[in-house]
Amino acid sequence: MRLSFPKGFFWGAASASYQVEGNIENTDWAYEARTSKRVPVADSGPDHFNRFEEDFDIAKQLGHNAHRFSIEWARIEPAEGEFSAEGIRHYKRVIRALKSRGLTPFVTLWHFTLPKWLYVQGGAESPEFPVYFARYAAYVAEHLGEDVEHWVTMNEPVVFASNGWYRGNWPPFKVYRFFKMFRVLRTLAEAHKLAYTRIKEKDLTAEVGVVKDNIYFHANWNPFNKIAAKVMRQFWNFYFLDKVATHLDTIGLNYYFHKKFGDKQTYKKNDMGWDIFPEGLYQTLMELKRYGKPVFVAEAGIADHLDLYRGEYIHDLVYWTHRAIDDGLPVKGFMYWSLTDNFEWALGYEKCFGLIGIDYKTKERHIRESAYVYKTICLDNAVMVDIEK
Ligand code: FCB
Repeated sequence: MRLSFPKGFFWGAASASYQVEGNIENTDWAYEARTSKRVPVADSGPDHFNRFEEDFDIAKQLGHNAHRFSIEWARIEPAEGEFSAEGIRHYKRVIRALKSRGLTPFVTLWHFTLPKWLYVQGGAESPEFPVYFARYAAYVAEHLGEDVEHWVTMNEPVVFASNGWYRGNWPPFKVYRFFKMFRVLRTLAEAHKLAYTRIKEKDLTAEVGVVKDNIYFHANWNPFNKIAAKVMRQFWNFYFLDKVATHLDTIGLNYYFHKKFGDKQTYKKNDMGWDIFPEGLYQTLMELKRYGKPVFVAEAGIADHLDLYRGEYIHDLVYWTHRAIDDGLPVKGFMYWSLTDNFEWALGYEKCFGLIGIDYKTKERHIRESAYVYKTICLDNAVMVDIEK
């Protein structure tokens, strides 16, 4: 059976500046990689900064009509209050390169990495953070706004805060600082709202949203497990969105995991050791219905260096997205994570999420088989399923 998507549905892939551009040296991550060495060095990586046209040619060839990417704050504001015209020119070229290939840009203003000058002042712990962030957002909107309709202020605030202040595996490496983590989340919510307002002042028609990392929490029969799932859902999935709900035109959902309390089952795993559980995308999408906003899948993907599971996983994710639309959720796009292999944060370059593989020495790109599974979906604007599904 053929399941069609609404006309104008956005199909594409997502990326983030620090993960693909290469040679960004003035961020918190680059600084820590060189000094404390607690995170890997990103170096030139996929060198997307110089090769974005080649990458977008492939995206177009793969049938995409949209692309989500992020702007590196440190390129735009390399020193406090000093804005770089060259930085803006670069991203203008990137956006024009997308548009000339028929790819609609979805622009994330901040995807985890901070300018070093801000990091050394306390980063997201600084009470000034919302003001700095909104000033940066307004500057970008002013200079790139004529070419951009879809803005995301920030990516995965809860992952950022929990890795930085609870797990301690990302800068600033603080462990079990529960109260600080909540303070950071409140600061980020303020920052989002202020940035939202400033972007809308520049362009009332701009669509501004946030990208949120939700997990499908479920439980077995046990009532205590059911309560645990509910508590986690409230904190992880809703706490931040509830805070910013008055300042959202759209919500981008990133889906990677499910967590079933009291579950004894074993699942097929991807290269990250995460269960392969595509149905969780449907559940996390439907949970967003309560906000009454249009939604898009801003990231969903799989690390699978042998490309064994990716094609089927993409198919299933798309099927569950369709099911959410059928059940009344206005979903307007799907962005696979990621277009190319890239820097997977604390894990470096080892994990392969890309539709396109990269030889990091020669910078050669090779298209994986699964990219063609996705291509068929994108070009048909539909997914085929067995009747039994
Ligand atoms: C998400 C991040 C993205 C990437 C994927 C695998 O949490 O937004 O940058 O690392 O996970």
